[in-house]
Amino acid sequence: MNVAVYPGSFDPITNGHLDIIDRISKLYENVIVLVSINSSKTPIFTADERKKMIELEVSKYNNVKVETFNGLLVDYIRNKDAVIVKGLRALSDFEIEFQMALANKKLYDNAETLFLMTNMQYAHISSSLVKEINRYGGDISSMVPKSIEESLKNKIGRSGYANGC
Ligand code: PNS
Repeated sequence: MNVAVYPGSFDPITNGHLDIIDRISKLYENVIVLVSINSSKTPIFTADERKKMIELEVSKYNNVKVETFNGLLVDYIRNKDAVIVKGLRALSDFEIEFQMALANKKLYDNAETLFLMTNMQYAHISSSLVKEINRYGGDISSMVPKSIEESLKNKIGRSGYANGC
């Protein structure tokens, strides 16, 4: 298996996600960043917007591409013969990730989920937090790349009319 799929909402992608992508790109020949649907979240960026925003940030890698997918993750990885790679920040991540890994394995016996521990410098970052800090005019420059900061300012502005963390 030389394909790694890194799925997530990426609404928006953060420096923590990008660190995980960087590390996966050194471990696998082919990496697919998969912008996927999390039915419990209401994203502020469309899937296509998120894809384009990520593409800009990963263009320096020749083994990383970005796709969108609306369906069961196991169907996608079955088709690609890929492993799932996720990042883990804290115990709170573990609980949901453990559940998803087990559910995916139940749905498809060959579904393997590998976890990379977050780099400590990014452990506090989440897309939700970034959106909230931005909404109230806080400084997110250490949490997301410049292009993402600009996309967020354009989408939400500083006045906070958009909701959905
Ligand atoms: O960044 P997120 O929101 O934590 O990512 C969660 C995501 C999108 C990876 C997860 O919801 C997912 O895999 N969605 C695809 C649909 C699916 O397969 N759902 C069942 C997962 S057990």
